[in-house]
Amino acid sequence: MRHYRLPILALSLALVALVGASVRSGEPNKMSDAEREEFIRNFNRTGMDTTPGDAMLLRILVEARGAKCGVEVGSYKGFGAINMGIGFERNGGRLYTLEINPETADICRENLRKVGLEKTVTCITGDALKTLPKLEGEFDFVFIDAVKRDYFKYLKAIEPKLVPGAVIVADNTIRSAKAMQNFLGYLQDNPDYEMVTVRASLEKKDGMTIAYKIR
Ligand SMILES: C[S@@+](CC[C@H](N)C(=O)[O-])C[C@H]1O[C@@H](n2cnc3c(N)ncnc32)[C@H](O)[C@@H]1O
Repeated sequence: MRHYRLPILALSLALVALVGASVRSGEPNKMSDAEREEFIRNFNRTGMDTTPGDAMLLRILVEARGAKCGVEVGSYKGFGAINMGIGFERNGGRLYTLEINPETADICRENLRKVGLEKTVTCITGDALKTLPKLEGEFDFVFIDAVKRDYFKYLKAIEPKLVPGAVIVADNTIRSAKAMQNFLGYLQDNPDYEMVTVRASLEKKDGMTIAYKIR
């Protein structure tokens, strides 16, 4: 029995050194898929977070679209961003999530770090109406989930950077339809877009609008 002790000790020391090196080099804390799903299951959700069903719909849309560069307007604590981030990581893409409240943005970043998605998802603090025009590059996925009456303004701020084939998802488009009439009307009447509103979350008794930019 005693002759096993040396290899076990050496193995433990090597493991400690490896973990230490990865922390020092700033490597993301790589959680297993199962650990991430458990983190998502145990997420301390409130009414402000996207529901698990809506978050999974977003993740599937990101993956099915093969989206490479996305933006979320309204991060809150990062529940949606984590779910979409898993999809973007699988696609080899990246997501920017925009949050006006600095304290909430810090919590979002901390949650992203906990699940090892900080290299895939970047949380930017500030008013999205100011940060959206500063984003560089082209975008193929958008999730809008902040001030309902400003949805049209968020869309117009990102629209010049949307590629043909971009997917736009907007939350709360049934219960807050009145506040975002200009946004919904624009997508409905514009021949460059196809759109549908789905009753996504039974929990929230609300829906999401999914639009596709044809050209
Ligand atoms: C419903 S929560 C977002 C939930 C999140 N998308 C999720 O999937 O869990 C709305 C968030 O939008 C943020 N917000 C409101 N106005 C904003 C603005 N102009 N720019 C950026 N974020 C904003 C709020 O502070 C809040 O955290």
